Amino acid sequence: MSVVDTMQNAYILIEDDIVKDIGSMQSVPDRADHILDAKGGSLLPSWCDSHTHIVYAHGREGEYVDRLRGISYEEIARNGGGILNSAAKLQNRSEDELYKSAKARLDEVIQYGTGAIEIKSGYGLTLESELKMLKVIRRLKETSAATIKSTFLGAHAIPLLYRENRSAYIDIIINDMIPQVASEGLADYCDVFCDKGFYTVEETDKILKAAAKYGLKAKIHANELAISGGVQVGIANQAISVDHLEAIGQEEIDLLKSSNTIPTVLPSCSFFLNIHYAPARKMIDEGLGIAIATDYNPGSSPSGNIPLLMAFACNNMRLLPSEAFNGVTINGAYAMELGDSHGSIAVGKKANLIITKPIPSLDYMVYAFGSQHIDKVILNGVVV
Ligand code: NIG
Ligand code: FE
Repeated sequence: MSVVDTMQNAYILIEDDIVKDIGSMQSVPDRADHILDAKGGSLLPSWCDSHTHIVYAHGREGEYVDRLRGISYEEIARNGGGILNSAAKLQNRSEDELYKSAKARLDEVIQYGTGAIEIKSGYGLTLESELKMLKVIRRLKETSAATIKSTFLGAHAIPLLYRENRSAYIDIIINDMIPQVASEGLADYCDVFCDKGFYTVEETDKILKAAAKYGLKAKIHANELAISGGVQVGIANQAISVDHLEAIGQEEIDLLKSSNTIPTVLPSCSFFLNIHYAPARKMIDEGLGIAIATDYNPGSSPSGNIPLLMAFACNNMRLLPSEAFNGVTINGAYAMELGDSHGSIAVGKKANLIITKPIPSLDYMVYAFGSQHIDKVILNGVVV
C-alpha cells in the first residue's frame, strides 16, 4: 500500500484518450501536435472515487444542526429523517432537476481531480423513483468526461409504508425493481445497506442472490453502525467491495484476507458523523489492500473532495500519504473493476491525469491540507 513509483523530469505522450508512451525528457519525442508544460508541477493519475450518492434533491443541513445539538444519526433515521427524508424530497423532483444538481456536483469533484466515480441510487425507494435516479446516472455517463459506474441501491432503507411489512418491500425489490433495472441496463452493481436498523444478513443475501441472477454484482454497505454480518454476507456473494467497516472485528479482517472482496473505508463519513473510524491502519498492517472513497451524500458525507479525504485518512486513520494515495487511485479503480484502465499512469491506460502546482512531494500535498494544489485536470486526454 505504501509504494508509489515516481519519475523525475519526465514526459508522457497521449494519443486520443490513451497514454501511449512515458519516458525521460532526455529522450523526449521531437514532435507532438500539442505540448502541455507541467511547469514544475507533478503529474498524478486522477482519483477513482468508488462509493458516492451524488444524485439527491436537497442538502440535510437541518439534520446536521440537530446532530450538533445532540440527536444521533440513528435517532434521526428512526424518526423518519435521514435517508427517508431524502427519499421524500427526491420523489417530487423531476429527472431534469436531479440531473442538473448531480451534474454540478460531478463537475465540482472533477475539478478536485476525480476522473472515475461510482454513483448509487437509493433515495428513490419506489420503482419509479429508483428508475428515475438510475436514468439520471445514465445521463451523467453520457454527458460527463468522468468514467462512471452505476449502482442500484433500492435496499438503502425500509420505506415508512413498509415498516410493519418489510418483506413486501423486499419482494418489490426482487420481483419488480431488479428485473426492470437489469432489462434497461441501468446498473453495473447492486448494493444493500446491511446494518443494524436497516437490512438483515438474511435479507441482504436474498437481494444479492436475486441481483446476481440478472448479472448485477454486489458492492455493499456493511458494518457502519454495528458488527452486522455484512462483511460475511458480502464475501459469500463475491462482492466486489464491502464498504464502511467502522465496526469490524478480527474475524472480518481474517475473512477479507482470504477473499477477493476489497475493503473500502470512508473516512469523511466518520469525520462528519463524529463516529469511530474504520481500523484502516490495522487492516493494512495485516496485509489487506484497501480502497478509500468519499461516500459523497447529503447525510453522512456532504463532500466529494478527495485531497481533503486523504488528509482525514492520514490524520485520523494514521495512514501514510502514499497509502492514502493508493487507496484513492489504483485500489479505488479496482473497487469499480477499472483497474486495467484507470488508477495509475501507465502505457495503454486512460489519459486521466492531474497536473499539480509545483509541490515538493506527495507528502506535502496531504500535509498542507485544505490548500488547492491542483492546477489542471485532464480526462480522456483533454484538459477539463
Ligand atoms: O453510506 N449508510 C448508508 N448510506 C449512506 C448515508 C445515507 C444518508 O444518510 O443519506 C452512507 O453513509
Ligand atoms: Fe454510502
